[in-house]
Amino acid sequence: MFIHGLEARATLIQETKLRVLSGIQPSGKLHIGNFFGAMRQHLQLQAENEGFYFIADYHALTTNPDPVQFKANTFDVAKDYLALGLDPDKTVFWRQSDVPEVTELAWILSCVTPMGLLQRCTSYKDKVDQGLSPVHGLFAYPVLQAADILMFDSHVVPVGQDQKQHIEVTRDIAMKFNNIYGETFVIPEEHILKSVAVVPGIDGRKMSKSYDNTIEIFEPENKVKKKVMRIVTDSTPVEDPKDPEKCNAFALLKLVAEPDELAEWETKYREGGTGYGTVKKRVVELLHDYFRPYRQRREELENDTDYVEEVLCKGAQKARAVAAKTMERVRNATGLGAIRNG
Ligand code: ADP
Ligand code: TRP
Repeated sequence: MFIHGLEARATLIQETKLRVLSGIQPSGKLHIGNFFGAMRQHLQLQAENEGFYFIADYHALTTNPDPVQFKANTFDVAKDYLALGLDPDKTVFWRQSDVPEVTELAWILSCVTPMGLLQRCTSYKDKVDQGLSPVHGLFAYPVLQAADILMFDSHVVPVGQDQKQHIEVTRDIAMKFNNIYGETFVIPEEHILKSVAVVPGIDGRKMSKSYDNTIEIFEPENKVKKKVMRIVTDSTPVEDPKDPEKCNAFALLKLVAEPDELAEWETKYREGGTGYGTVKKRVVELLHDYFRPYRQRREELENDTDYVEEVLCKGAQKARAVAAKTMERVRNATGLGAIRNG
């Protein structure tokens, strides 16, 4: 599971558990790209590490979502995680905005963050190019993300390649702060976990909530089927050999097929005689098999919002206890707050 750098670090730290932290924005229904690219790792990592996972609703607010839909999305994300096996007894799981201390820390960090560091971040420009309003929150997004990570003394932040720059910014901010005010923050591990290759959407672009090309984890099976059957493939005739590495259906097959089966399909592609429709049908079956064990739990949770709220509140309490300690350190280091006697 770990790439070599982390393995080395895990051995080094030995008895101490690594604190693994990650956030996911409630910006729409979670899809299989989110699952295979991020969530699956989060869930696997909770077994042997100290997991800290949260729903990044402050971050999602940068896109000015519709308030009713926004709240529903937040609960959907929580329900998906819980249905897929997040264990709230083992892992601290909360809604970001229930720990408002992160916004205080973000402000304090922004006072040591060079403008140039943020101007070099590609995500602001990318999002504005996609049509989002060029608001300050979007520009300052990486500082809030740094606050999320540094607040909880995180060692490892498992995210996809697209977030690598934000982790680097976090390290830069932490080092700058430590230089000015003395050792205050843990510098998060620079080796982030490699996510699987980018999962393509049904139009062949990266699967993303922003492109309307997703296959949601828990949408009804007949819809999953329709979407998979619509995945864009080229027009190579059935009898001709095909390149599996250039095929969107094969990219999905890779996520769910066992290695032996995958090797068989690869041979069939290269030999010719297999149509894309046949491959897609198998992808549908395997996706159904993969997620079916979690569907019932997801359905139960759909009607148990109280339980989900309780999990998030308990998680927030645990997270706030850690945040309070960090903020005390930070306030002392910076000279904020009251004068104390001894
Ligand atoms: P979206 O693009 O759908 O809005 P996010 O940007 O919220 O997704 O991503 C949440 C997490 O899921 C990130 O860690 C990201 O790297 C991962 N992720 C999103 N889409 C994909 C994809 N198509 N393939 C692999 N990982 C993905
Ligand atoms: N920016 C991340 C994303 O879009 C979400 C996020 C917010 C996050 N805060 C974080 C991820 C802290 C890891 C750590 O996917």
